[in-house]
Amino acid sequence: PMPGLKSRGFMSEFEKVDSINKITFYYPFQPAPGSDLENLVPEETMIMIVPNMKAVALKQMHWMIIGAVFFTLVIIAAFYVTVSALLRQKKMSEIKNDFINNMTHEFKTPLATISLAVDALRNEKVIEDRTKMNYFSGIIKEENKRMNKHVETILQAALMDRQEVQLSKVPLDVHDLIHEVLDNYTLQLNEKNGKVDLNLNAQTHLVEADQVHFRNVISNLIDNAVKYSRENLLLRITTQSNSKNLIIRFEDNGIGMSKETVRKIFEKFYRAHTGNIHNVKGFGLGLSYVKTIVDAHHGKIKVESVQGRGSTFTLEIPLAKERHHA
Ligand SMILES: Nc1ncnc2c1ncn2[C@@H]1O[C@H](COP(=O)(O)OP(=O)(O)O)[C@@H](O)[C@H]1O
Ligand SMILES: [Mg+2]
Repeated sequence: PMPGLKSRGFMSEFEKVDSINKITFYYPFQPAPGSDLENLVPEETMIMIVPNMKAVALKQMHWMIIGAVFFTLVIIAAFYVTVSALLRQKKMSEIKNDFINNMTHEFKTPLATISLAVDALRNEKVIEDRTKMNYFSGIIKEENKRMNKHVETILQAALMDRQEVQLSKVPLDVHDLIHEVLDNYTLQLNEKNGKVDLNLNAQTHLVEADQVHFRNVISNLIDNAVKYSRENLLLRITTQSNSKNLIIRFEDNGIGMSKETVRKIFEKFYRAHTGNIHNVKGFGLGLSYVKTIVDAHHGKIKVESVQGRGSTFTLEIPLAKERHHA
C-alpha cells in the first residue's frame, strides 16, 4: 500500500506475508542506518489491515449487540406502558368529571321542580283548591319517582361491577313485552311527534329470560331511540325467528353515531360528545347494562349507525326450548 516507504528503505525488514491467511503485515519503524533518511523522524504510520472486518467485529460484539437491542426494546416497552397508563388515567378522569356533571344535572332538575311545587302548595289559593293540590302533589310524586330511577340505575351499575348478574329465568312472550314497554313511552313519543312501526313477524316469540332485566333491556333500547332523535321520530321494531334464535331489531331515524362512538357505546359511562346536547342527559350506563344482560342470556347485540341518519340495534336471544311438546 505504501510503495514510497518501501523503496526508501523503511520497510524491507518489516514485511511479513502470511500466505495462508492472505495477510501482509508491515512494520515501518526506522530508516536503515547509513541511509539518507537516518536521524530524520519518519512519519509514523500504522496500517492495520483486517480482512472481513465486519464479520470479526460482529463475532466479538454479538452479545453486546443483542444486549443493546434487548435493553432498547425494554425501554421502549416501558415507555409505551407509561404513556398508555397516563392516557388511560386522563380518560378516566374526564369520564368521572362528565359523570359528576351529568349526575348533578339529573338530580338538580327534579329537586328544583319539587321545591317549586312545594312553594305552590303553601299558597293559600292552592290550599283551597283540591284539583290544584292534586296537580302539584302529583308533580312531586313524579319527580320523586324519576330521582328514584336514577339512584337505581347507579346502584345497579355498581352492583354489577362487584358480582355476577343473578337471573331468574321464566318463559317470556317478547311481543307482549314490547307492547307493554311501548305503552310507557306514549307520552315521550307524542312529544317528539314520534311514530312506531311494529313488524312483529316472529313465528315463535317465547324466550327464556329474566323478566325484570329483559324488560329493562328493551326499555333501554327504546329509551335511547326516543332520546337521541329529532322531531318526527320513526321507530321501527321488527322481530324475526329462526330455528334457534329470536331476532329483535330496533331501527330509528335519529341523530345516529360516528364509527368511533359505535365502537365505545357498550363501555360503562361512555356518552358521545356530539357538540353540546345539553337537553339529552344520561349516565352512559344504559348500554353497558344491556350488554351485560344480553351476555348473561347467551345472546348477542349488534349496532349499525350512520351519523345524522339513524341507528339500528339488533338483538339476538335464544328461543325457549319448546316445552309444550315434551
Ligand atoms: N339510538 C341511538 N341513537 C344515537 N345515539 C345513541 C343511541 N343509543 C345510544 N346512543 C349513544 O350511546 C351513548 C350511550 O348510551 P347509554 O349507555 O344508553 O347511556 P345514556 O343514554 O345514559 O347516555 C349515548 O350517550 C349516545 O351517545
Ligand atoms: Mg340510555
